[in-house]
Amino acid sequence: MSYPKIRMRDRRKDEATRKRFRETAQVSASDLIMPVFVKEGIVKRKEIKSMPGIYQFPLREVAVEARKIYDLGIPAVILFGIPKYKDEIGSSAYDDNGITQEAIRIIKKKVPMLTVIADVCMCEYVSHGHCGVIKKKPETSNQKPEFDVDNDETIKILAKIAVSYAKAGVDVVAPSAMMDGQVKAIKGALVKNNFPKIKIMSYSSKYASSFYGPFRDAAESPPQFGDRKTYQMDYYNSDEAVLEAKLDIGEGADMVMVKPALGYQDIIYRLKKELKFPLACYSVSGEYSMIKAAACAGWLDEKKVVLEMLTGFKRAGADKIITYYAKAAAKWFKT
Ligand code: PBG
Repeated sequence: MSYPKIRMRDRRKDEATRKRFRETAQVSASDLIMPVFVKEGIVKRKEIKSMPGIYQFPLREVAVEARKIYDLGIPAVILFGIPKYKDEIGSSAYDDNGITQEAIRIIKKKVPMLTVIADVCMCEYVSHGHCGVIKKKPETSNQKPEFDVDNDETIKILAKIAVSYAKAGVDVVAPSAMMDGQVKAIKGALVKNNFPKIKIMSYSSKYASSFYGPFRDAAESPPQFGDRKTYQMDYYNSDEAVLEAKLDIGEGADMVMVKPALGYQDIIYRLKKELKFPLACYSVSGEYSMIKAAACAGWLDEKKVVLEMLTGFKRAGADKIITYYAKAAAKWFKT
């Protein structure tokens, strides 16, 4: 096939014509999900050093913040709780009066129309900062200190966390620990406890990424030893991301996810093409901080760069975009 007469530049000559030929719908606030950090035991919001403009909120400010987000046209938040006390097994994560549970309750009471998603993981709640419980290995005198996360013990705790969020009134749980069988365990526990309607947005294809650096400041959850490569995905792989998502769909996930987003648009594209299933991408903390830093230095036009990036995620196939720029972008869409 050839198109000898088509002059592509005719389509680009003015904004009205460019708009007529657009293949991707403009990103709107309704595509976005705003992450919200809630910290136990603080009285005033605290800006995260490595993420200027993003805060840890005290419980008493969370409803007002949720209202602002909702009023901007953003339909959902994803909550991360930071508890006062951490232990080896993350017991504060499934405490029915824990920080995340309280935040869910307050938001659902004050801003009922806002969808509340809660991250289901252990890393913010455990003293060692890993996403699961650590296997106890028999110690011998010449054995190197090794660690491994106990997959099957961890998914039992993740299920308890999810049920506890459900009791508090959460709409969607988002397991992010990258343990095998976590979606199945959570789905089973939700159904057993009479919460069959709670949806699961699975962090199905989550890579071991250095772009999470600033988040670990925000959620106060850096691993105290080792790293997360024994459970998060190796970024050399792409087929594996598809397989992970398929497994989660089989276990009962309602939406799958690619994380990070910026260096992983090929993965977003593949998942959408091959699975044709609701898909979110998570533009992570490091993606926010890079742009913010360059914008603060006057090196980039923040607004234009962010809108270009978000459109890229949508063009690649993401239905929903989790981004720390959600609020800012929603304001930009209005102007
Ligand atoms: C794990 C979790 C992490 C993020 C979201 N959920 C951290 C990690 O896996 O290391 C990272 C989000 C970001 O960097 O913005 N509970």
